[in-house]
Amino acid sequence: MSVIELRHVTKVFGRRPGQALALLDQGASKADILAQTGCVLGVADVSLSIDAGEVFVIMGLSGSGKSTLVRHFNRLIDPSRGEIIIQGENVLDYRPARLREFRRRDISMVFQGFGLLPHKNVLDNVAYGLRLRGDTRAASLERAQHWIEQVGLDGYAAHWPEQLSGGMRQRVGLARALACDTPILLLDEAFSALDPLIRADLQAQLRELQARLHKTIVFITHDLDEALRLGDRIAILRDGRLVQVGTPQHILQHPADDYVSRFVQRRAGT
Ligand SMILES: Nc1ncnc2c1ncn2[C@@H]1O[C@H](COP(=O)(O)OP(=O)(O)OP(=O)(O)O)[C@@H](O)[C@H]1O
Ligand SMILES: [Mg+2]
Repeated sequence: MSVIELRHVTKVFGRRPGQALALLDQGASKADILAQTGCVLGVADVSLSIDAGEVFVIMGLSGSGKSTLVRHFNRLIDPSRGEIIIQGENVLDYRPARLREFRRRDISMVFQGFGLLPHKNVLDNVAYGLRLRGDTRAASLERAQHWIEQVGLDGYAAHWPEQLSGGMRQRVGLARALACDTPILLLDEAFSALDPLIRADLQAQLRELQARLHKTIVFITHDLDEALRLGDRIAILRDGRLVQVGTPQHILQHPADDYVSRFVQRRAGT
């Protein structure tokens, strides 16, 4: 069953989106559109479908549109054109109250670069989403404590974000997202800033959690090894366009074009 479905989603940033979309329809490139309209093509005509319980990895070079694409899923960004269907509902129809509910109950996100609240300790950071959605303080703190232990931060509940290493901050971000118990989890380069050993550790931990939790996970990375380790399927973006979607094995054996091949070769070369 498909949990997330995008149909022909396009996002143009800038003042003259109409003109940019017309150029796009005539086959203009991202560079042409920028030169002629000053608009940046973030995502171009992306259609995809993500299944329940799947770990779906989105890969691509810096600037290829990964963050822009994933921010459509919880409507931090609205498309210039296209449809977004999540759990069978057109989320673009949501009014503010329904949208807030959706973000609290259905979908949580770990941001590129932590996104912790500096003036709250670890426990309150993890409990934050639960308090927002109206859980009692006692219930929120108990649940937060549970997830702090699950991500291996036992003993750090009273610490401040600035007292933690990057890897520990990332674990707090992960615990905060997991504590909300949403069926959908978005991770935008959640592990990218970490050194390789800690990163491998967190990847293993995420896989172990996923084996128990069976969430629908959208994981963004620019690292093919990470994509292969975590992904049930991998989507590859270039200049806002989806160039290939497939299982790790399929991507390795049948790269769709030179761009995908370069990711595969870069891995073979290291
Ligand atoms: N708010 C914005 N206003 C204008 N242009 C934007 C905005 N956000 C993103 N862009 C542009 O959209 C394109 C895609 O950016 P995006 O942040 O999605 O890339 P990314 O693949 O996540 O890159 P990275 O790996 O560096 O995080 C880029 O060309 C970027 O300049
Ligand atoms: Mg990004």
